[in-house]
Amino acid sequence: MSRGIIAAAAAFIMATTIFVGWQVHAEANKTTFPENIDELVHYATVRRGEVTEHLLTSQAAIDAIKSGQSVPLGTHVVLVDYRGGEVFRYFVMEKGENWGADFPESRRTGDWQFQWFKPDRTINLAENTARCQSCHSSRADEEFMFSHGSVQSFNGTAIE
Ligand code: HEC
Repeated sequence: MSRGIIAAAAAFIMATTIFVGWQVHAEANKTTFPENIDELVHYATVRRGEVTEHLLTSQAAIDAIKSGQSVPLGTHVVLVDYRGGEVFRYFVMEKGENWGADFPESRRTGDWQFQWFKPDRTINLAENTARCQSCHSSRADEEFMFSHGSVQSFNGTAIE
């Protein structure tokens, strides 16, 4: 093989590796940023050191959870992570019809998908959202939400 061919082959392999690596991490999925975020209800606040989290969802989802129903398709649940009073990131979970089918069963979190949005509301492509699903899968009986109990006791004032 000539040097030129070896160099070209090496460049090709490198490019392929970078591309495959990028695919593993790039995690665009069906989750959307909730355009109606200002209409969502702030039902709980979590404070941890310099981090303040506001947990939001729709009134319809709150009504469903309080009455022991599963939340409607199209529901967004949002964790707004504030640091120093500014939005640092948005963690969003959204439920859609048959959205679980996009993942193998081992990874599936019902029909919920997860996404990390930056303050400018674009996706953080460096995140592998399998991690979100893996941790939240422990809450399968509670809409994959850790704060399901807070929604149940929410009475108009955000639970702390
Ligand atoms: C290691 C476990 C873990 C991982 C990984 C994780 N979460 Fe969570 N998530 C939690 C816990 C615990 C809460 C409850 C709030 C708190 O304690 O900060 C939570 C809360 C949330 C909420 C509010 C609804 C709820 O479940 O209470 C959303 C939305 C959310 N996470 C989305 C995400 C997204 C998106 C990712 C990935 C980018 C992610 N989470 C990764 C543990 C995790």
